[in-house]
Amino acid sequence: MCGIVGFIGNNKKDAKDVVLSGLKKLEYRGYDSAGISLFDQRFETFKIYKDFGRVQKIVDLTQKVDPSSIGIGHTRWATHGKVTKDNAHPHYSESKRFIIVHNGVIENYEELKSQYLKNSNFYSETDTEVIAQLIETFSKSFNVETAILTTLKLLEGSYALLVIDTSDPETIYAAKNKSPLVLGKSKDGVTIASDLMALVGYANEYFALVDHSFVVAKAKNIKSYNLLHEPLQMNYLKINQDEVSAELGTYQHYMLKEIYEQPSVIRRIVSKYVFDDLPKIDKQIINQMKQSDRIYILAAGTSMHAGYVGKRMVEEITNMPVEVHIASEFAYHMPVLTRNPYFILITQSGETADLRACLLKVKKLNHPVLTITNVKTSTLAREADHYLELFAGPEIAVASTKAYIAQIAVLYVLANSLTDAPYDVKYELEKVAKSIESFLDHQNLANIAHDLFLKRNCFYIGRDIDYYTALEASLKLKEISYIQTEGFAAGELKHGTIALIENNTPVIAIISNKTIAKNTRSNLKEVLARGAQTLIISLEKTSQPNDDIILKDCHELLAPMVTVVPTQLLSYYAALERGLDIDKPRNLAKSVTVE
Ligand code: AGP
Repeated sequence: MCGIVGFIGNNKKDAKDVVLSGLKKLEYRGYDSAGISLFDQRFETFKIYKDFGRVQKIVDLTQKVDPSSIGIGHTRWATHGKVTKDNAHPHYSESKRFIIVHNGVIENYEELKSQYLKNSNFYSETDTEVIAQLIETFSKSFNVETAILTTLKLLEGSYALLVIDTSDPETIYAAKNKSPLVLGKSKDGVTIASDLMALVGYANEYFALVDHSFVVAKAKNIKSYNLLHEPLQMNYLKINQDEVSAELGTYQHYMLKEIYEQPSVIRRIVSKYVFDDLPKIDKQIINQMKQSDRIYILAAGTSMHAGYVGKRMVEEITNMPVEVHIASEFAYHMPVLTRNPYFILITQSGETADLRACLLKVKKLNHPVLTITNVKTSTLAREADHYLELFAGPEIAVASTKAYIAQIAVLYVLANSLTDAPYDVKYELEKVAKSIESFLDHQNLANIAHDLFLKRNCFYIGRDIDYYTALEASLKLKEISYIQTEGFAAGELKHGTIALIENNTPVIAIISNKTIAKNTRSNLKEVLARGAQTLIISLEKTSQPNDDIILKDCHELLAPMVTVVPTQLLSYYAALERGLDIDKPRNLAKSVTVE
């Protein structure tokens, strides 16, 4: 969601190349417009090139532009104002002295406008422009650093900002609160971006800006301050290029590549968390969890669906009570907590703003927090007491697949680490990997998708743990194919929603649990009697000869890892059939960094 890249360097690297290649790497976060500002040495002025649409448009627009030693760029995911060229970043202040790019939401921008900027003329409808105008207003009384700091102190909400003072082409100012921002350096200069991925190839080491901090960056001189203008430490870390870069290889889409990577992700998790055939998790985490009287899992979207499976596993394996909450709800309506709660945040990106809001509230109450994330350098990994890494490798497609599988695998290891009688985790997870592998080797779902998804709506049904897979399958289908889909507890359908079933409505059932298989099959009969077109996904042990997709068996608590795979592929092929932008679906972002 919104990406920022800025570069200032010696003249060996062209800022345009660094910024545009960084923005391309951040495309996966989701955006609808892009832009860049570069210094034009001939005219000694900064120019802005921006438009709605893809970064490629800006690449084409700037093809003949002379090299520049400084530049800032942005991919916008609209929050305030329509998707137009005027609303795309970068934005000028009124006199065009300051140029700014911003990720985040300024919650009090209207108040600031009416209090300080009554007489200013605006070029856009964005909250961002208010920041540029405020800096310009204060620069009339203060020097630039004080003008920016005075502005920052007034802002409520989230921001990762880059600011250029056009009268000083040797400095980029950066500031951060809530939205992520990292600064990398190399002998050629300084790159500042929303995501480490944009630094790869341009920096050897980096540091993550902390909330309410401000940076003054020159090619060879970087200073960081708090909002009182007191200097801050910058703790640089090495960039491990292999961990952050991701190539598409021979696959047509990242989503397909990531679906196919799932067996190796499972094996990597085993190699990281299982030793001498026993699950091993940091002792402090296990002790804190054992001392707690209830586990609260907080997450959003797909990660929340993994949380439901995690609840089921932890409760069955350890008997400890677990609650799962939607992060955006929990942050503003906390339920009555038990005396010794333990919090687990599940997040692929580690940057989800709804979860960050929860983390801040839970930390205020001094409760222990564990983040399970794919990005160990992320905000939520840094700010929790502990984190467990998913080791799924960079997930580029907006629709999460391998991270979901990894989340369930790590939760399974965690649940087994809490008991004195663990399952044979290595054996059980290997069985899952093999089952997925054998399905992927022989799958032929493109035709089924063609037949099934020419319809305007669809239902996924399942009971118990299969219900969670139905929720995840339905989210996946709707987010990339735009087919209206619902995931339902199979027994609940007849209590109202069955009214929507008509001739040829697709109903896909997931049946992995022997004890309730017959109940789901009766629910299927109910929809068949009303004309539904059904598709059954089962395991060998729950299958009947005419089932459409029969997967190799695995432990019943791990069945969601296997049964979800055909549903991921069905979504993929449905979107492919419809000619949609699979890796970057409309309106969605990979890192949801606004609440
Ligand atoms: C998954 O396909 C979605 N794109 C989305 O629901 C995602 O899972 C959600 O936004 C949470 O993100 P996180 O895991 O990075 O916190």
